[in-house]
Amino acid sequence: MRMVDLIEKKRDGQVLTDEEIQFIISGYTKGDIPDYQMSAFLMTVFYKDMTDEEITTLTLAMANSGEMIDLSSIKGIKVDKHSTGGVGDTTTLILAPLVASVGASVAKMSGRGLGYTGGTLDKLEAIPGFHVEIPDAEFIRLVNESHVAVIGQSGDLAPADKKLYALRDVTATVNSIPLIASSIMSKKIAAGADAIVLDVTTGEGAFMKNIDEARRLAETMVRIGHLANRQTMAVISDMSQPLGEAIGNSLEVVEAIETLQGKGPEDLLEMCYILGSQMVVLAKKATTLDDAREMLKEALESGKALEKFREMIRNQGGDDTIIDAPESLLTAKYQIELPAQTSGVVQKLVANEIGIAAMLLGAGRATKEDEVDHAVGIKLHKKVGMAVSSGESLLTIYSNSDSIDHVKELLYKNIEIGSSGTEPELIHDIITA
Ligand code: URA
Ligand code: CA
Repeated sequence: MRMVDLIEKKRDGQVLTDEEIQFIISGYTKGDIPDYQMSAFLMTVFYKDMTDEEITTLTLAMANSGEMIDLSSIKGIKVDKHSTGGVGDTTTLILAPLVASVGASVAKMSGRGLGYTGGTLDKLEAIPGFHVEIPDAEFIRLVNESHVAVIGQSGDLAPADKKLYALRDVTATVNSIPLIASSIMSKKIAAGADAIVLDVTTGEGAFMKNIDEARRLAETMVRIGHLANRQTMAVISDMSQPLGEAIGNSLEVVEAIETLQGKGPEDLLEMCYILGSQMVVLAKKATTLDDAREMLKEALESGKALEKFREMIRNQGGDDTIIDAPESLLTAKYQIELPAQTSGVVQKLVANEIGIAAMLLGAGRATKEDEVDHAVGIKLHKKVGMAVSSGESLLTIYSNSDSIDHVKELLYKNIEIGSSGTEPELIHDIITA
């Protein structure tokens, strides 16, 4: 087989066989196929698309390019959840203990933030002592005993994806549905869970800027999941404005604790109930979504979910006293209010730009090598649809520097106040097999 023939075949819109796709992925992972041929191939996929069968073969070839984690020694159904990215998306911090507290096993592998998108690992590391680098055997023990562990992706998980993603990033081929779907699902499949709940975000703060694209991505991933024998479903959620009120690592840990105490923002809590109910049903701990939601509500209101979070923090070496004193995490030197310049109703809080403002404060990374400052970020006081009077604080900036005029300017540019505005729908669609 020759790579040039396969590039030509896809260029002409033909369907590749399983053997051909496996040849491409194993050849590229080993270094036999050079970047220039792979770049050309990625561009043909971008323009000519792939069938579901091709995408599934591609996904499995990528999953099999490295370590496949075996969670079969954990009793019961192991459920994972994945978001395609967002701003202020605190859900995993809440969902992992919440769902575990009703007896479903959450074996969760998370990533770090990049650009305007936050990452769960960075948020968890805002908890003093918390570690996310845990050997597989310890991960399995924790999920078996405690029903929950959240860890970083191991170095050898889907190496084909790591190499391909870096190439896509510099060849303008990131935004292709077959490539995104195979990238995400290869890692989920290699990570070993039996059931996968996908949160496909849409809006300014997401990869998929419109609902039709998000739906196509969700449908593709759900189909791949089923073809790979994993129970998979997807929720299409709104990411036109940040989720909840906190954006930034320590601020989001505090927000998670408050939510588990029943004092969190409504949209964030609702999102957790929606995703959590799906996880509980897939884990077969409830038969209907309504029953699952009742169980989760009871666990949250009784404090059982918060105690599970305390246990999870302790299990992973973290200081669990923050559960009783979350404010101790808010150590930024300055808290600066951003007053509204006019009166009216908030019409827009452009999620990605607000994510960039948090990144500029130090809460996120411009490049993979950057360090994050856990203490800094933004706490929103007004969300889309809320009334505001001139001079009232729109948000508080937590900063370790007092020269932040550029951040304030960016925020003002991306908060629109007008005569009317309505709260966006939180969930646009639900995709099941
Ligand atoms: N997240 C991934 O892991 N891969 C993509 O291609 C896009 C988002
Ligand atoms: Ca949040």
